[in-house]
Amino acid sequence: MKILAIETSCDETSVAIVENGRRVLSNVIASQIDIHAKTGGVVPEIAARVHVLKMVTVLDSALDEAKCSWKDIDAIAVTRGPGLISSLIIGTEAASVISFLKEKILIPVQHITGHIYSNWLEAPEEPKFPILILTVSGGHNEIILMKDHFEFEVLGETRDDAAGEAFDKVARILEMGYPGGPAISKAAEKGNGKKFKLPIVLLEKDSLDFSFSGLKTAVLTIAKEYLKEGKNLDEQFQNDLAASFQETATEILAEKLFRAFNILLEKGIQVKEVHLAGGVSANKKLREKIQGKFSKETTFRYPRAIAYCTDNAAMIGAAAYYLFRKNPKQFKAKTNIVPTTEFQI
Ligand code: KG4
Ligand code: ZN
Repeated sequence: MKILAIETSCDETSVAIVENGRRVLSNVIASQIDIHAKTGGVVPEIAARVHVLKMVTVLDSALDEAKCSWKDIDAIAVTRGPGLISSLIIGTEAASVISFLKEKILIPVQHITGHIYSNWLEAPEEPKFPILILTVSGGHNEIILMKDHFEFEVLGETRDDAAGEAFDKVARILEMGYPGGPAISKAAEKGNGKKFKLPIVLLEKDSLDFSFSGLKTAVLTIAKEYLKEGKNLDEQFQNDLAASFQETATEILAEKLFRAFNILLEKGIQVKEVHLAGGVSANKKLREKIQGKFSKETTFRYPRAIAYCTDNAAMIGAAAYYLFRKNPKQFKAKTNIVPTTEFQI
């Protein structure tokens, strides 16, 4: 089954063609980073206009790269939310029009479930359930138990900032530009992660929730103190504070994931695999920290390409395939999708 998937939840216009949930025939991503870097963050109205501008050419390139014509496509998939509503509307409208004109089945996909299925892309074998998942993106941060396809239990979530949001805000404090995550991890490579002692906030003993606002404030306080001494933000200071922040944030994420694993074990649930998904899964330090906590017997997966970590349509195509397989009669041709900003996993 070949699914053409569309993702426009934030500032990436992406169209992919995915076969049977795992084989990526094309995954075209038109990034707006250069545009939003000028304002230090995404301006929703501009993002929406750029989606309109790029949609047709990205669609065309995705078909071209996959060497497919419309008649080869079995279904259309699209991100229904959560995300920026003006951006989502462009994708859902494009998908709905295609569904009508080309008489294709239309499958709406929740964005975070898309991130979860990024670990199915190009995987040589199907992951085995139950799976414990850490989702770390710009807007969302959860620990999820996945018992089977589309059977999710949210065990913990952030009480304030999501992991990616914390990276972005710290990058802004350190004047490192947008997007913050890649800038922090690059700077951290040249910095000393032990230079600044930052709070490892783990909340209550049995809690699987996250809180990053205290850590962000601690970084802000250190930066303000430094500037008060009449100094400028020099590179070594930026690198050391970026490295110390990354060290602490990734320790919190990895420790919470390990805690979840043990809590489940105490309840008699032995997970077969541990997965990492979402934009921050591109972070090398986070991958290393998680790998360090679990024994070699636990299968640990993260997306097989950086392009599958951050927003992309291939992951939406993968999720759509398994959603369709679970209940094929639920989806029809010539339908339309109304986007939503609610989480509803
Ligand atoms: O999943 P995603 O592409 O978009 C949302 O659904 O939100 O995640 C974007 C987030 C941004 O906050 C970005 O700074 C972060 O992922 N990110 C990273 C890295 N690459 C992207 N954070 C840490 N290290 C990275 N290498
Ligand atoms: Zn995302």
